[in-house]
Amino acid sequence: MVGEPILHRSLRPVESYDADLAALVDDMFASMYEADGVGLAANQIGVDLRVFVYDCPDGDDVHQKGVVCNPTVVLPEGPDRHLDDGDEGCLSVPGPHAPLARPDRATCHGFDVDGNPVTVEGTGLLARCLQHETDHLNGKLYIDRLSTRARKKVLREMEEIRAEVEANAQADAEQPL
Ligand code: NI
Repeated sequence: MVGEPILHRSLRPVESYDADLAALVDDMFASMYEADGVGLAANQIGVDLRVFVYDCPDGDDVHQKGVVCNPTVVLPEGPDRHLDDGDEGCLSVPGPHAPLARPDRATCHGFDVDGNPVTVEGTGLLARCLQHETDHLNGKLYIDRLSTRARKKVLREMEEIRAEVEANAQADAEQPL
């Protein structure tokens, strides 16, 4: 959750493509599906390693799935650069969404779980996902890219939703058996 120090600092590069890494990646996919997310970075489950997983529709609504270790993102420049001003949200800032303009295409270079080079070409939501997850590994949340005002609004909405969920849980607990 937002506020945890590991979400707000740059992570260590992956150096060993071993069984521990494979087990971490399995955990990350399970956590992502459990939370109904389209992407998850290692620090979102408390692990200090530059790795993210994704299972996300691209611009043609085709689901792309994979893992990227030590990613770098290349964004279009000049006339090829077009912004998508759609909404963004994050499992570590649960509840609200906010509009955030990002380039509508992104190329992500890195390595798969076995250490083989991979390149992922992202369009549509996948372009946003590749940028969002790589940001996570650099200690940056999407709310850090919003205006001060928009960021405060997102955090306030998150707290309000949380208070509501807790109040409902309390009410449920008070139901007689
Ligand atoms: Ni996120």
